[in-house]
Parts: sequence; C-alpha cells; structure tokens
Amino acid sequence: MLLKGKKVLVTGGERGIGRKIALTAAEEGADVIVTGILEAEMAETTKMVQALGVKAYMAKMDITNYEEAEKTIQNLAGQTGGIDVLVNNAGIFQEAFFVDMTPAQWHKTVSVDLDGVYNVTHAAIPYLMESKGSVISISSVDAFQGCVGYAHYAACKAAIVGLSRTLAKELGGSVRFNCVAPGIIQTDMTKDRIERDLDTYLAKLPVGRVGLPEDIANAVVFLASDRASNITGQVIHCNGGMYFG
Ligand SMILES: NC(=O)c1ccc[n+]([C@@H]2O[C@H](COP(=O)([O-])OP(=O)(O)OC[C@H]3O[C@@H](n4cnc5c(N)ncnc54)[C@H](O)[C@@H]3O)[C@@H](O)[C@H]2O)c1
Repeated sequence: MLLKGKKVLVTGGERGIGRKIALTAAEEGADVIVTGILEAEMAETTKMVQALGVKAYMAKMDITNYEEAEKTIQNLAGQTGGIDVLVNNAGIFQEAFFVDMTPAQWHKTVSVDLDGVYNVTHAAIPYLMESKGSVISISSVDAFQGCVGYAHYAACKAAIVGLSRTLAKELGGSVRFNCVAPGIIQTDMTKDRIERDLDTYLAKLPVGRVGLPEDIANAVVFLASDRASNITGQVIHCNGGMYFG
C-alpha cells in the first residue's frame, strides 16, 4: 500500500478526476479528506472512500475564498491530526476566445484555476511543513501547447507549474511540489468535446484512446508516495502521447 498512514486532502473531490484520486488514494491505504462545493457529490465520494475501509472526512470549501480555505483547513487538520498530501485538483474550463473575453470571464477562471491553488496551498503549508508532506497540482497539456478558446485556462495551468517549481526550491527541505499535466480525459468537463471531436482526438493520441480519470489518479498517487521522495518540481505528462513534454 503506497499511502498507508497518510492523510490526503483533495480539492474538487466531488466527481471526475478528483473523485478517482480520492478513491485510488483510499485503495492505497490513505485517509482521505474530500472537499468541494457540490454537497451531494461530495457525500457520495466520501461514502465510496469509507467503503474502502479507511477514514474519510468531508468539508465544503470554495477555493476562491481565502478565509474559507484557511478556516476549513484549520478545522480539518484539527479533526484528522494533520495533512500529509494536498492535491490541487479543482478547476473550471469555460470557453471564451481572447478577443471577445470580458474581464469577468478572465477573472472567474483565474479565481478558481490559479487563485484557488494559492489560497489552498498557502492555507495548508503549515500542516504540510509539519508532516514533511507533498503537494500535487493538476496542470494541463494546454499549459504547454496552448488551447484555442481557453487563453485564461492555459495561462493559469502554466502559472501553477511556475508556482510549484518555485515552492519546490523555497520549501525543498520540507515539502515536495509536483504537477500532473493531463491531456484529454473523459469526465463531465470534457464529455461534450470528446463526443463532438473524438476522431480528431484519436488522431493525436499514439496510445489509441482518450485518457481516463484513473490514469491521472495513478500518477498522483505515485507522486504522493515515498517512492517519489527524490522527485520535486517536476511535471508528469499524462496525455496518451499527444505532447511529449
Ligand atoms: N478532463 C480533462 O480532460 C482535463 C484535462 C486537463 C486538466 N484537467 C484538470 O483536471 C482537474 C479536474 O477536472 P475534471 O475533468 O475532473 O473536471 P470536473 O468539472 O469533473 O471536476 C472539477 C471539480 O472542481 C470543482 N470546483 C469547481 N469550482 C470550484 C471551486 N470554486 N471550489 C472548489 N471546487 C470547485 C467542481 O465542483 C468539480 O468537482 C481540473 O483542474 C482540470 O482543469 C482536466
């Protein structure tokens, strides 16, 4: 069991990739803290985690609100006795072509996809330093090759790589920081695009299939585990070969 005894906090753990990360961490023996904004889906993930025989905790946490993140994480750390792994997974992906993009559209994406990572990471840092823990943030292939109609999203996903690499240097003695950069993964976020453009995606995917949430969860669990104890400041490209890093 790769994560036995670790306490893993996942943002956006309600569904999709976040839910699979929560379940895979639980299968590897971790106690899991599921956070998000969708109460019913969060409760469902929490029940699924408990069914795997580990402890599960759940808390509403809108990552765009620093005070809420700080208070929630403080409460959770009090309940669980600490945090060993933070997975910055929550994100939004909302189309807006740059010439037409309003300041409101830009700031909405930045508030979740970048400010949210700052808010939660900053609030969790004291606990992660104490546990000598690890942070894994979900970037995207779009950070590296751009994404038409999603300049705000691509900018945020690139920024969190820079953030992780800087923190890997600033806090290298106590906390590891890595990213996983998914390609196209089958979730609620992408199901319409995949249905519409499946052949176009398949033509770009040497492995011959779109990704699944477990592909990302497996990479996250590895980075969170002690097997990755010499890995920090890195990006695992998990994209079926559509981009080689
Ligand atoms: N699906 C893909 O192809 C793909 C590709 C590259 C990167 N990613 C990234 O993977 C992560 C998970 O994506 P997914 O495909 O599972 O999408 P999803 O939409 O299924 O899940 C995103 C989760 O984030 C939560 N969330 C949104 N706003 C929030 C907020 N303000 N506070 C807290 N939680 C919030 C949602 O409730 C949801 O549970 C995202 O960061 C996404 O950008 C996904």
